[in-house]
Amino acid sequence: MRAGKTTEADIRGMKGRRRIAALTAYDFAMTKLLDAAGIPLILVGDSLGMVVLGYPDTTHVTLAEMEHHVRAAARARPQALLAADMPYQTYQSPSAAVESARRLVAAGAQAVKAEGGCAILPQVRAILAAGIPFLGHLGMLPQSVLEEKGYHVKGKTEAERSGLLADAAALAQAGAFGIVLELVTPPVAREITQKSPIPTLGIGAGPDCDGEILVVTDLLGTSPGPIPRHVKKNSRLAEQMGAAIVQWRCSVEQQ
Ligand code: KIV
Repeated sequence: MRAGKTTEADIRGMKGRRRIAALTAYDFAMTKLLDAAGIPLILVGDSLGMVVLGYPDTTHVTLAEMEHHVRAAARARPQALLAADMPYQTYQSPSAAVESARRLVAAGAQAVKAEGGCAILPQVRAILAAGIPFLGHLGMLPQSVLEEKGYHVKGKTEAERSGLLADAAALAQAGAFGIVLELVTPPVAREITQKSPIPTLGIGAGPDCDGEILVVTDLLGTSPGPIPRHVKKNSRLAEQMGAAIVQWRCSVEQQ
């Protein structure tokens, strides 16, 4: 098990040594549970919007909402590294990015994640120059769902492959400690992983990344929407919870 607080250097150092199992959490109780289970990297993801707040996508999540949930997760004082997503349109310039990242750190995050590669490099460099560890996110970028009219697998064309490789190299060069690869074709995810000096965390990107990251409610089967196809081991807890609630309601009504 872990001795002491997990740092970005610990996560970086896991590449080639130990696969990384990362999950999202949005509150105190789940952060405690994941930490006790030995999860080394917990992300307060902006998937919060869909799985907790009832929004149709992540573009509705505000910085204030992220701060609120980061504070709740941070109260669990996890040994895991606690990272937080920078929400939509809160990192459009280097100064905005630093201000938003600082707010998430003040709320209790030890690292931030934002979506994009070369397109946001000045922002990434500014965040890192401010001393805030940065986790990249490439491939399908959920915050681009409106522009892209849906969630599409990335890496299918040569232009996408070379763009992803360039983005991953730029993030590593800038000093990111890891990169989430979401819905990237498995061969391209493997190539990025082989070439990258920092760990890759796949989500719907095949088996060859340095680790995986999942939305915890998809893993447990309590997400309100459909569970994505890449989630193979789904616990279907929603059915058990529903049954327990119905059983209790019936017991109360029959008394
Ligand atoms: O917001 C989120 O849950 C994410 C996933 C990649 C884990 O960014």
